[in-house]
Amino acid sequence: MLHLKYKHSSSKKNSNNSKIIVKDGGIEIPKYKIPAKPMSAGSAYQIVHDECMLDGNARLNLATFVTTHMEPEAQKLMAETMDKNMIDKSEYPQTAEIEKRCVNIIADLWNSHSENDSIGCSTIGSSEACMLGGIALKWRWREKHKLPVNTNRIPNLVLSSGLQVVWEKFCKYWDVEMREVPMEEGNYKLDVDKALEMCDENTIGIVPILGITYTGQYDDVKQLNDKLDVFNKKTGFDIPIHVDAASGGFVAPFIQPKLEWDFRLKWVHSISASGHKYGLVYPGVGWVVWKNEKYLPEDLVFYVDYLGGQMPTMAINFSRPGNQVLAQYYQFLRLGFDGYRQVQQYSQDVAKYLSSKISEIDEFKLVTDGSDIPVFCWTLKEMQKNWTLYDLADRLLMNGWQVPAYAMPENVTDMVVQRIVVKKDMSFDMADMLLGNIIEHLEYLRSLSEPTPSAIEAHKPRDENSKVQEERFHH
Ligand SMILES: Cc1ncc(COP(=O)(O)O)c(C=O)c1O
Repeated sequence: MLHLKYKHSSSKKNSNNSKIIVKDGGIEIPKYKIPAKPMSAGSAYQIVHDECMLDGNARLNLATFVTTHMEPEAQKLMAETMDKNMIDKSEYPQTAEIEKRCVNIIADLWNSHSENDSIGCSTIGSSEACMLGGIALKWRWREKHKLPVNTNRIPNLVLSSGLQVVWEKFCKYWDVEMREVPMEEGNYKLDVDKALEMCDENTIGIVPILGITYTGQYDDVKQLNDKLDVFNKKTGFDIPIHVDAASGGFVAPFIQPKLEWDFRLKWVHSISASGHKYGLVYPGVGWVVWKNEKYLPEDLVFYVDYLGGQMPTMAINFSRPGNQVLAQYYQFLRLGFDGYRQVQQYSQDVAKYLSSKISEIDEFKLVTDGSDIPVFCWTLKEMQKNWTLYDLADRLLMNGWQVPAYAMPENVTDMVVQRIVVKKDMSFDMADMLLGNIIEHLEYLRSLSEPTPSAIEAHKPRDENSKVQEERFHH
């Protein structure tokens, strides 16, 4: 567990590394205990600032889906409103009003027409939004079957093994059995027929992903909806769909408006997305919307004071910064529909340009090309004797680029891919610089006469589970 690892390294009391020497006055302060005395604001700032210099350069981080650049005006607004607590609706009624506007804007982008009477809220990210969507599914299932809270029936959730780790957490934290539809070689999307075969009267929902973390593809939500409709009619199970649109929720409405994946579809009852990914806001803000109030069990809603009255809230967090929600509204105002479309289209153009260039490299084979979300990945046509994609990832770090390599999930774990997430701050010029670096490092790797440690490892049988976990936790 990560936190245990942290505890272990921080408890090395006697290591030379456990103290910081503060320049003014030459005082030593402990790293892993609170310092006994205060220090000047300048010194505290400098220490933290200097430590952060060792973090990667966010704009060269092509591993993350999270926004790495906002305009100075947005940053100013965020800095000015940093003290606002999202839960304190009566102290910050206008922030609450703006959250409401954002929910309406997003519900509208997801084609929730007014007759649907959608309801939703902001969250700290997609993970919290997925949790809320999942809990509502579980509660609705219990209500439908009139089960007591301590029922001994075990609910299950069906989704593809391309799931993000949040769904594993959800199932573990809320006692739900996770039923994974394994990916097949050559098809990395949810296999709808297999998903339906896994459903029974205890299935609380099916979760397709709009922007699979591993490949950037969209699961076929329309096909799922249509086949599920027939299945639900036949069985009477009424299994709903929650779409995990962490990335695609802010891409598809703008550049694939005809794609039916959202509230236009009968069985899509709820959708979650990250405002801090293609919503174009710094972390952390996410959104969850239910098509209609009836899909959010009343039992999950709590009431907080708001302008002398009561306002409904449903969230796992209580206190949470309000400034990201304000920054989301800033982006809606600043860009409008056309601006978002241009930004996402530009990212997709860069992604397709990069993927087409990468597909020309002899050893590489594209798995996806960035035509769903602007994310694509490639693999090796055949295993190389002396190097792997992990080596290429390591070498690109020398230039500051983070371009992760990882194994695909269960059933296709033998396949290692390398992925690029193109965000709005990646220009064609940067893409060319990256390509130049890739080619330079490949020349080096091709010239090796001995295998790298990673190539030696690759030629041994692998431990499937540890590799899968690694990727799920990484993103
Ligand atoms: C498909 C998917 N779902 C959920 C998440 C979790 O999102 P967040 O980091 O906003 O909590 C991610 C993150 O990459 C994702 O790709």
